[in-house]
Amino acid sequence: MRIIRLADLTALNTFGIVATAEALARFSTADELRGLLAAPELASMQRLVLGGGSNILFTHDFNGLVLLNEVPGIGVVSEDEESAVVKAGAGVVWHELVMRTVAQGWGGIENLSLIPGKVGAAPMQNIGAYGVEMKDVFVSLEAMRISDGEVITFMLDDCAFGYRESYFKREGRDRFIILSVTLRLTKRNHRLRTDYGNITDELIRRGITSPTIKEVSEAVIAIRQSKLPDPAVLGNAGSFFKNPVVPEAMVQRIKQANPEAPVYPAGDGQAKLAAGWLIEQCGWKGRRLGNCGMHERQALVLVNHGGATGAEVWGLSEQVMQSVKERFGVELEREVNVV
Ligand code: FAD
Ligand code: EPU
Repeated sequence: MRIIRLADLTALNTFGIVATAEALARFSTADELRGLLAAPELASMQRLVLGGGSNILFTHDFNGLVLLNEVPGIGVVSEDEESAVVKAGAGVVWHELVMRTVAQGWGGIENLSLIPGKVGAAPMQNIGAYGVEMKDVFVSLEAMRISDGEVITFMLDDCAFGYRESYFKREGRDRFIILSVTLRLTKRNHRLRTDYGNITDELIRRGITSPTIKEVSEAVIAIRQSKLPDPAVLGNAGSFFKNPVVPEAMVQRIKQANPEAPVYPAGDGQAKLAAGWLIEQCGWKGRRLGNCGMHERQALVLVNHGGATGAEVWGLSEQVMQSVKERFGVELEREVNVV
């Protein structure tokens, strides 16, 4: 059990915010994690589990123990003619899992290509893109209960998945550490989702009319690379806010003055607005404030132009929220996890 004291977290968060942790330890197995949770010298410390650090904002140094998840392994649990059930360790890089399954021609997570981060964080906010969410292929996950080190299996109904939501982001936060995730993927009769965003346009541009799983994945990757900043070049955590889900009546009011506003159905008399559009309308797209700003190609992505502090990022996000509230009466909610 190697404990690093006063660990530098700068390279461990894709925002590139300079922060330190009082202590840091890596774990690759349930036993190693259990040992860390039980260690008397660490018992009184606050804990934070970290995967790829691609959805986290440090607004100050972390006064506690960072547990860096490195649980490896991808395996096929069972398989028949229709589907394959795949289990991945929480420390596997999500995109590597996608590439492995796409290479087999297995369907289900091709639209989730190139999402940064690790498998263990995917259930946290039920990652989603291009009309697919992780919950659509989810079978179960294993997580360690921090209070007693017991490993518990959670089935779909236990996880309360919603749009960028789960039990683990709410009531289960700081109570469980996810160790593995199991997904069911299709081997034939794939349910391709190419109707969302500009996937179809991208496929047509490539001269593809009847796409394979790999071709859908490649189209998604190309679209993402054209819009989203690469954290290795420009620090960011993807969408900083969620797309707000609001009552239909509010949408009607906004649509009256702005017929072009993008709106997506959300059921139950609600609709989802595009936060990027709202933020752009308020003049924030490409605007910089000190060392951070809203991205020039995607106003929903807050970027670190270099040397931004977590407090600066937080301050900018407050101003953006206030603008959107004043102009449209809509309350934005942060998607990133704030420490
Ligand atoms: P981290 O940032 O390390 O952690 C996120 C949160 O989960 C933290 O609160 C952490 O404590 C907790 N956590 C991490 N691992 C565990 C675990 N094993 N057990 C319990 N809690 C844990 N997200 C989408 O949904 N769709 C997108 O299209 C998308 N695009 C993105 C594009 C870019 C350029 C970037 C930078 C981010 C994007 N994101 C997207 C956000 C991010 O990639 C996902 O939220 C991802 O799942 C985060 O994984 P991570 O391992 O980096 O999590
Ligand atoms: N838009 C603008 N201006 C902008 C940005 C967007 O007008 O600056 C408009 C677009 O023209 C489009 C609409 O807003 O009509 C939606 O934009 P886009 O398709 O780029 O997607 P998004 O809603 O901004 C969401 C997810 C992304 C995910 C994409 C693709 C959220 C919070 N974000 O973004 O997820 O990759 O859809 O499905 O739901 C993330 O969670 O970190 C993330 C990147």
